[in-house]
Order: sequence, then C-alpha cells, then structure tokens
Amino acid sequence: MSKQIKLSKRLQLVASLLPKGANFADIGSDHAYLPCFVCMNDPTAHAISGEINQGPYESAKQTVLAYNLTQRVDVRLGDGLSILDDNEVNEIVIAGMGGSLITSILEAGKKKLDKVDRIIVQPNIDERSVRQWFMDNGYTIESEKLLEENGHLYEIICARKNHDQQSLELSEKDLLFGPILRKNKSNDFMNKWLAIYKKQQRIIKQMEHSVHASEKRVNQFKAECKWMEEELQIAKKLDK
Ligand SMILES: C[S@@+](CC[C@H](N)C(=O)[O-])C[C@H]1O[C@@H](n2cnc3c(N)ncnc32)[C@H](O)[C@@H]1O
Repeated sequence: MSKQIKLSKRLQLVASLLPKGANFADIGSDHAYLPCFVCMNDPTAHAISGEINQGPYESAKQTVLAYNLTQRVDVRLGDGLSILDDNEVNEIVIAGMGGSLITSILEAGKKKLDKVDRIIVQPNIDERSVRQWFMDNGYTIESEKLLEENGHLYEIICARKNHDQQSLELSEKDLLFGPILRKNKSNDFMNKWLAIYKKQQRIIKQMEHSVHASEKRVNQFKAECKWMEEELQIAKKLDK
C-alpha cells in the first residue's frame, strides 16, 4: 500500500520533533500510525512499536503489514520499556496517556534510558508530573508545544538528557505552566489557563461551602490561581 497515512495534527506535531534518521520506540502505539507515518516519510528512520494490550498490538501489526514496513517497524507486545533491549533506540515517544502513567513507564524502565537522547511525551492530563520526573532525573526540556485539535488543547514536551549531570531547576510555575510555554504565552496558552482559572475559582467556592473539602487541597488550588493571576494577568483580563 503506497497511500499516505492520515495522521492527527497532534501526532504530526509529535512526529516533527523526531530527528531525521530517527531510531525510536513508540510506547503505547495503538495502531502504530505514528511509527508508520515517520518511516514512510523518512526512508532512513526505524521504529519499534510497543503495546501492552493484545487488540492494539494486532492492529499495529496489521498497519505495519499493510504499509509494507515490516523491515523498519518492529511491533512488540509488552509493558512500557520492558519490550526494549539495552541501547536499542535513541528516541522514545509516549503519547496519548495520562502524565502519571507516562512517568510510571519512564520510572519502571529507567535502565533502558542510558543511550536514549530524546524523550517526546504528550500527556493528556497532569503534564506537571512529567516535568517533575524530567527534573528529578536530569533531563532538560528542549521544546514544548501546545496544539488545539477537536476542542482539546494538547501539550507536547520534548526532553533531552543532561550529559553534564547538571540538574535542571524548574520553579513551581515552570512545572505547572511549562518553562517554554510560559515564556511564549501563545493565544492557545492564554485560553487554556483562563479556562482552568475560571473552573478552579468555581471549585474553590464549592469547596469553601462543603464540610468535607480538604483544607490542603483548597489552599493548593488558591495558590495555583494566584500563580495564574500573576503569570497571565488574568484579573485584569476578567475585569474588562
Ligand atoms: C490512548 S492510546 C494512545 C495511542 C497513541 N500513542 C496516540 O497518541 O494516539 C494509549 C495506548 O497505550 C497503551 N498502553 C497503556 N499502558 C501501556 C503500557 N504500560 N505499555 C505499553 N502500552 C500501554 C494502550 O493499550 C493504548 O493502546
């Protein structure tokens, strides 16, 4: 089949962060559209498609077969990075899962990351926990993207190992907003955080009227709202 794979804008943006000649693993690959797309568009690229569930694993094998890519996309069944041999890939992609699942996959597979130069993640929620993991494990955030597709705003983070062992220091605001995203402050960024701010304000009000609400949680939400006000000058915008 020579037909081009139609990839979502989200996965196209993930693919664009891979270098030419990438030798990468796509963990939680589902239909293996991303590795097939990359290998079809770059004849020097190679990929391993990893899946924990039998159904998506079978779908991935079918896609690879259909696009005649069995020599360059190796589909494997298993949990996270356990499907990889040591030093087998240079880049890792983990997209379309929650941040805590992504960090647990990275944490459990740490030993496989020695030779990995780039990790590209697209957490659906809880991006902060992934940034925290990168900071705790000596990675630098090289680029961050924010993309709107079908009403969702997706964050994509590309991190590289700090070979000089210097640890990356991220402030609480960097962890929450993203060190690069907060510098750029795109329209999508402003819209995302304005929506979260309004939602969190409503939740705080509800929690203040509830006897069951945890004080710690209310204070955390209030602190975050204050960061949003400072970072985005939200109060001024809402007054308009
Ligand atoms: C929502 S899909 C995302 C698919 C694709 N990466 C994307 O971004 O469109 C998540 C996939 O990750 C797989 N998955 C979940 N936990 C996994 C793990 N620990 N190891 C490998 N795959 C996993 C699921 O079976 C599912 O196919």
